[in-house]
Amino acid sequence: MRQRLEKKPDVVLGLATGSTPIGTYRQLISKYNAKEVDFSKVKAFNLDEYYGLDKKHSQSYAYYMENNLFQHINIDKGNTHIPNGTAKDIQKECNRYDQIIKECGGIDFQLLGIGHNGHIGFNEPAEALKISTHLVDLKEETIAANSRFFSKEETIPKQAITMGMRSIFAAKEIVLLASGEDKAQIVAQMLSGKISPKVPASVLQIHQDLTLIVDEAIAKHLHVKGLFEQEI
Ligand code: PGA
Repeated sequence: MRQRLEKKPDVVLGLATGSTPIGTYRQLISKYNAKEVDFSKVKAFNLDEYYGLDKKHSQSYAYYMENNLFQHINIDKGNTHIPNGTAKDIQKECNRYDQIIKECGGIDFQLLGIGHNGHIGFNEPAEALKISTHLVDLKEETIAANSRFFSKEETIPKQAITMGMRSIFAAKEIVLLASGEDKAQIVAQMLSGKISPKVPASVLQIHQDLTLIVDEAIAKHLHVKGLFEQEI
């Protein structure tokens, strides 16, 4: 990401939340503190936000981004964008989000995690994937996985607003990060299974510039032979 920033100081970043990108954000903060990167012209779009959570809620992704990255670097807050989970008119909010991404010329560099069910952003497995930013019903497994961040008293949101597949796929460059043995199966499926809306990340097989970064726990389960060999 550092090279992207050097090449294009006004780079448009697509950012992810969850536990996976925390290390990346820490590294970016330390590079910023070492004066190696400048975020003053950077624009950032987050993938998603929980429906119904105010940006001040400690589990909102707006709060996460503020805590884990934005407050530590010199990004212009006016250039940071996250869907508004408490917008009165959700459809209008989704349209607005797609419109500002478009007005910024699309995403240059998209950081992604992957859910155990293959979701990217909150594009959950489905019969058909949605192209635009939309309100999504979270799958039981996603709610269960994310419940670890919420206290017992808190109600875990069952819906979210997520960037759709068009903005993600249109990113000029995508880096997908995955770690932990529990993600090995879905990463293998994403790479070598059929492209299917039932595994949303599988569409990335045909992205023009995808880099996958995995830890050893996943890498040892991936067999290079066979990857990308299937017919679409
Ligand atoms: P995680 O989430 O980084 O917390 O595992 C990834 C995702 O659900 O996309």
